[in-house]
Amino acid sequence: MTGKILIYGGAGGIGSATARLLAERGYGLHLVGRNEESLAALAGELDAAFTVGDVTDDALFGRVAQAIDGPLDGLVYAVGTINLRSLARFTTEDMLADFRVNALGAALAVQAAAPALKKSEAGASVVLFSSVATLQGFTFHASLGMAKGAVNGLTLSLAAELAPKIRVNAIAPSLTRTPLAAGLLSNERVAASLAELHPLQRLGNAEDVAKLAAFLLSSDADWMTGQIIGVDGGRSTLRTKN
Ligand SMILES: NC(=O)c1ccc[n+]([C@@H]2O[C@H](COP(=O)([O-])OP(=O)(O)OC[C@H]3O[C@@H](n4cnc5c(N)ncnc54)[C@H](OP(=O)(O)O)[C@@H]3O)[C@@H](O)[C@H]2O)c1
Repeated sequence: MTGKILIYGGAGGIGSATARLLAERGYGLHLVGRNEESLAALAGELDAAFTVGDVTDDALFGRVAQAIDGPLDGLVYAVGTINLRSLARFTTEDMLADFRVNALGAALAVQAAAPALKKSEAGASVVLFSSVATLQGFTFHASLGMAKGAVNGLTLSLAAELAPKIRVNAIAPSLTRTPLAAGLLSNERVAASLAELHPLQRLGNAEDVAKLAAFLLSSDADWMTGQIIGVDGGRSTLRTKN
């Protein structure tokens, strides 16, 4: 399998696991993130191109579009935040920042890449990141749930608007062991009790999620679009204890 895939958050937990899987399968990669050192190291290892920048800077998306040379076969937007607290403790700026990084950044990334994605001969695939918190309500998730709920709406709207040339799907993980969740999982007793809340009795790891991202990018998923798919150990849909 070949093709060129653009990954925002390419050096992050899920982004880097996806990049490694895709590199093994022969894809060409362009990675984007804020941390030049980690991006350069991974890009060197995987023979990938990279662009350094912050998704809250609108100019980044144009720079990335310019750096992409020719057609693009896929885009992964694996950038996110995890600010969990009571509604009373969120400011307007906090909530707008969550919206900007999780949802608006995804929209601007697809907008800037759309001309290159439309040039893909085989048809391109976009993978966005939602959350289990849009499929089930959790306390302290107001800002994140709102921002990721917007990703679900964006996924459906873009899947309709960009069909039939570009497929658009979203992955909705539950708690996954990555740098993003490290603060929540630093206490092993807390991590174990969070794992037990999942019918499959464990937390996710980046590879669990990367495998679905790679599938959605591949031609094996070429009749799938407009889907929001849980990778969540059963957390969003099952109750195994009463
Ligand atoms: N891990 C979970 O439990 C979980 C659960 C549900 C949903 N998700 C979603 O899954 C996706 C991937 O998350 P992850 O767990 O892999 O997170 P992660 O390990 O923190 O990786 C996120 C990546 O995004 C980059 N990034 C963050 N803010 C950015 C910004 N403003 N501009 C540019 N790049 C930025 C980070 O770059 P730097 O290295 O520069 O910081 C990092 O490479 C996210 O959308 C997240 O919301 C994760």
